[in-house]
Amino acid sequence: MASEEATIEITDLYKTYHIGFFRKRVEAVRGISFHVKRGEIFGFIGPNGAGKTSTIKAILRLIFPTRGSIRLFGMPNSDCRARLRLGYLPENPYIYQYLKPLEFLELCGRLTEMAAEKRRQRSRLLIERLSLADAVDRPIGRFSKGMLQRLGLAQALLHEPELLILDEPFSGLDPIGRKDVRDVLLEHRNQGKTLLFTSHTLSDVEMLCDRVAIVKQGRLSALGALDDLLEPKERRVEVELSEVSPQLREQLASIGVNIQGHERELTLVLQGDEMLPSVIETAMKNGARVIGIRPHRDTLEDLFLRQAASG
Ligand SMILES: Nc1ncnc2c1ncn2[C@@H]1O[C@H](COP(=O)(O)OP(=O)(O)O)[C@@H](O)[C@H]1O
Ligand SMILES: [Mg+2]
Repeated sequence: MASEEATIEITDLYKTYHIGFFRKRVEAVRGISFHVKRGEIFGFIGPNGAGKTSTIKAILRLIFPTRGSIRLFGMPNSDCRARLRLGYLPENPYIYQYLKPLEFLELCGRLTEMAAEKRRQRSRLLIERLSLADAVDRPIGRFSKGMLQRLGLAQALLHEPELLILDEPFSGLDPIGRKDVRDVLLEHRNQGKTLLFTSHTLSDVEMLCDRVAIVKQGRLSALGALDDLLEPKERRVEVELSEVSPQLREQLASIGVNIQGHERELTLVLQGDEMLPSVIETAMKNGARVIGIRPHRDTLEDLFLRQAASG
């Protein structure tokens, strides 16, 4: 790929920590390579301790890699010009407890050398947009985890960066907060900008991402467009039935159909479409109603659990 198209290029990244008196080795990242294209939403997912935060900190040069190279906008990530073009939300944003939100954003705006008028205008807009207007008079020390997370995001977005890097942006948010944040992130992408974020919340990843990387024990276990990763290896069909009698249930079980659900409403997952006509016929003969027939698609959760279980 031409480097002007890639916003982030990570090549063969390794990070080993040494802890304690005996300098015990912790191999947090063990050979990760991927790139993030301009204008896409990229999800970086994996279980706790997989190496996500270490990778993100290496991109930002908050830690130095043991080996490997990282480029941002086609430049080495050591170049300050590259770093001014990105916004970052750390996993646990540390924000001065005694400042109020607008004072904090004012400080952040000065650090990225924004003009005074622009700082004020953007701060007010983001406070409004992230539903913090009721809390403008409160010191940040009194904020809940979800409010801190919103303010952290406002800080990351303040200077209208081309690239956003967010470490667990959805943690600590209630459903309304998740929706607010999701909408703000989609707006960012709709302006042609790029986003990389980590999350354990697979539904958020599934709803937002164009591509994902799944990381496991410091290595990538899957990388690609969501649609490709979730494309089933074999064609499966899901049949949804209601008014299911106990006799029908038994009959379906006896012909080896995978049954989910209970009582009179069932979803059957068939491992191919050959059995479909006979299953429907049996169901209808037994007085059941066919509510839906659709191709069965894995969820990201299925993929994630399969990846975590294998190897
Ligand atoms: N500063 C550090 N010193 C020693 N070990 C660390 C440090 N930071 C992270 N680790 C270890 O590196 C591994 C990966 O951690 P991390 O990158 O935080 O994973 P994730 O963000 O996916 O949960 C874990 O085993 C963690 O304990
Ligand atoms: Mg982490």
